[in-house]
Amino acid sequence: MSTVFETALAGKHVVIIGGSSGMGKATAKMAVALGAKVTLASRSLAKLEAAAAEVGGVVQIAPVDTTDEVGVKSWAASLGAVDHLVISASSAAHGAYEELPTDALRGMLEAKFIGPYVAVREVLPALTKGASITFFSGVLSRRPSAGTTGLAAVNAAVEALAKGLALELSGRARVNCISPGMVDTEAYAAMPEEAREAMYAQVGGSLPVGRVGTAEEVAQAVVLSMTNNFLTGTVLDVDGGHLVRS
Ligand SMILES: NC(=O)c1ccc[n+]([C@@H]2O[C@H](COP(=O)([O-])OP(=O)(O)OC[C@H]3O[C@@H](n4cnc5c(N)ncnc54)[C@H](OP(=O)(O)O)[C@@H]3O)[C@@H](O)[C@H]2O)c1
Repeated sequence: MSTVFETALAGKHVVIIGGSSGMGKATAKMAVALGAKVTLASRSLAKLEAAAAEVGGVVQIAPVDTTDEVGVKSWAASLGAVDHLVISASSAAHGAYEELPTDALRGMLEAKFIGPYVAVREVLPALTKGASITFFSGVLSRRPSAGTTGLAAVNAAVEALAKGLALELSGRARVNCISPGMVDTEAYAAMPEEAREAMYAQVGGSLPVGRVGTAEEVAQAVVLSMTNNFLTGTVLDVDGGHLVRS
């Protein structure tokens, strides 16, 4: 017997910008397992090829940089019909308010807010009836910590974008935003393993669930965003209780 998620996603075209890694890649795997056709986009062709081999069932990979408006436009025009658009691409610079270089702030804003803003506008004509758009923010939007003010503000902007578009695109697409807490993904791959594990233990230990999240747990929320036709204008916190921790 097929599940409600299989019925909703079978044969659908799911486009994931940021799909070569982490939660985007986990979403791709889940969508393919539920019968969807998936397009993966991100900057690095090598990462896309590796992800496509891992995910299986990918119909298209596309080197796309959300900060390149011209490139995003021409890629979007070539996509064909799109049932669900997911944008997990991100740039996340940390640094104290007085020390974070302005260019790092601009880079985050370009990659995580302006790029997705433009990408949605360009993909809009390709969206089918019943389409959904899913953005990614993060817990910092509502619980910033010292050294994350810029990123927190960018995340808050993404959440406002999702809510505004849920109204503006009413009847054309449902729009939601996933706000993850700390999730074990390739985003932390550059850290020395010992430091990374210590960070996971420290943050995870402060959460009601007692651990950091997995990419698959967040992918489940993206599937909900894609398939629940009563869900729009929502920021879905998938954070192990981060926002209610003391
Ligand atoms: N992991 C966490 O703990 C955490 C916590 C809170 C919020 N988040 C947010 O959740 C989302 C997913 O995070 P993640 O951990 O899954 O990230 P990730 O593993 O680092 O993956 C990011 C993806 O985005 C792509 N990307 C980055 N910049 C891009 C650009 N300018 N244009 C197009 N693609 C780009 C990357 O591939 P290329 O390098 O090939 O471009 C990669 O596929 C992000 O928005 C992140 O800020 C994550």
